[in-house]
Amino acid sequence: MRCTVVLSILSLLSAAPVQVSAVQKTGLKFPDSALASKYRDLVKGVFQTSYAAYKEYAWGHDNLTPRTRSYSDGRNGWGASIIDAMSTMYVMDLDNLLNDAVDYAGTVDFRSSKTLDHVSTFETTIRYMGSLLSVYELRGRKDKVLLEKAADLADKMAYAWVGDNELPFGRIDFSSNKPDVRTANIAEAGTLLMEWATLSQYTGNDTYHRLADKAMRHIAGLEAPFPGLAAQNIDPSSGKFVGGYVTWGGGSDSYFEYLLKYSQLAGLGDHLYIDTWATAVDSSIRYLLSRSTVGNHLYTRDYDASFNKFSDVGSHLACFHAGNWLYGGTILQNQTIVDTALELLDGCWNTYTSTTTGIGPETFAYITPGQSDRFLSSDQRSFYNAHGFYVKTSSYILRPEVLESNFYAWRITGDSKYLDRAAKAVDSFRKYLRTDIAYDGISNVDDESSDKVDNMESFWFAEVLKYLYLTFDDPAKMSIDDYIFNTEAHPFKKW
Ligand SMILES: *[C@@H]1O[C@H](CO)[C@@H](O)[C@H](O)[C@H]1NC(C)=O
Ligand SMILES: *[C@@H]1O[C@H](CO)[C@@H](O)[C@H](O)[C@H]1NC(C)=O
Repeated sequence: MRCTVVLSILSLLSAAPVQVSAVQKTGLKFPDSALASKYRDLVKGVFQTSYAAYKEYAWGHDNLTPRTRSYSDGRNGWGASIIDAMSTMYVMDLDNLLNDAVDYAGTVDFRSSKTLDHVSTFETTIRYMGSLLSVYELRGRKDKVLLEKAADLADKMAYAWVGDNELPFGRIDFSSNKPDVRTANIAEAGTLLMEWATLSQYTGNDTYHRLADKAMRHIAGLEAPFPGLAAQNIDPSSGKFVGGYVTWGGGSDSYFEYLLKYSQLAGLGDHLYIDTWATAVDSSIRYLLSRSTVGNHLYTRDYDASFNKFSDVGSHLACFHAGNWLYGGTILQNQTIVDTALELLDGCWNTYTSTTTGIGPETFAYITPGQSDRFLSSDQRSFYNAHGFYVKTSSYILRPEVLESNFYAWRITGDSKYLDRAAKAVDSFRKYLRTDIAYDGISNVDDESSDKVDNMESFWFAEVLKYLYLTFDDPAKMSIDDYIFNTEAHPFKKW
């Protein structure tokens, strides 16, 4: 009898792994603090240059188009760059710019779109709501208008849940309050909870939390192609998966990210979300990991359950997984996950070091043993033989994920090689992305005189420059033990 009791207590303990309280390496210090502050200032300078040009040529619009010195409005014309940049201004102590941005936010009518296109629940949540709520918190909850504006957005987006549907549609027409009744993906439906639950906390209206929570819970509860690895596409009307495509890349990515991050934000220990995250990672390690024939680089494959077929693609977007696994593996004290994450990061970083600009491409692919590579062009084949991957989409459109994962690696391991990598990226960006007025994406990362793409995305301000700046900033100031970054890098204080 006694024996049984002891055994059942032991099995309880192993079912709920102890979570560590400190993830960031304690007492983390820069080996060369002068160099760190030099790079921190360089990154801040890049931000200031970029923002000044935005202000001059695109103020109030979503993005600056640097080559044409004009603007584009892909995020409903509410001034995405201003709003998305706010939490980075806070981090960089750019108080005057931030005061102006907060004033601007107060003037925007978020209840009607300034463009003809419909409103994306996902993009609007992570960029606009994410930043409004983050800055509301960071500034001590004194700017009530930021909270009101976030609620204006959520009240309109709540129409994405139709009838008894547990899943929201991906886009809504703000004039008719009718959603586009098309399929959605798990990133769209499952990357809302950090922001919507935070909004409920501050408004006292639990509906926001309940809507986002039921969507995420629904996805986690569906029978998946591999345990924990939800398929990408879903139909909000039926509540079922459409097809069986599994990936850590775009369209799925941040659903997996939020399983872990929301658990941390809300302090959920043994809970469906963190369990599903750990199961997803476990399935990925079992079924999706592969290695390149050249260079032995570790990567995660995609899988299509409908055709029982794997594909050896990789993407800049998916490279967030390295930092996410490292963060979660450290929380769960699981060395297998930690070691795998660091190897995935090396594979992602290899896409940067392999090009002549030192900047990684949008999508790339590997060749596994036995797989035919007859379809490769001779350029792709020689690139593969030199670097272990070949380039599929050669552009760099100011994405953050590789440097985001690199930031987690620095904060968690304290290995200075991650500082060196970040510094190299800053050097490359200053050299190859600079235009006469600002910074811009490039169409070919393997061409030192590549064309520019004529678009400075708002995530350049929100994510790339924030993660780079924080890599070189005092680690105690915004410790990853105190703040959880939403998928657009807006920091939320742990509850
Ligand atoms: C709470 O939010 C929902 C969703 O926007 C809204 O329909 C409802 O009226 C709000 N409740 C209160 C008491 O404001
Ligand atoms: C650590 O993670 C691996 C991979 O997901 C898993 O197989 C293993 O059971 C985990 N170890 C513990 C002690 O939870």
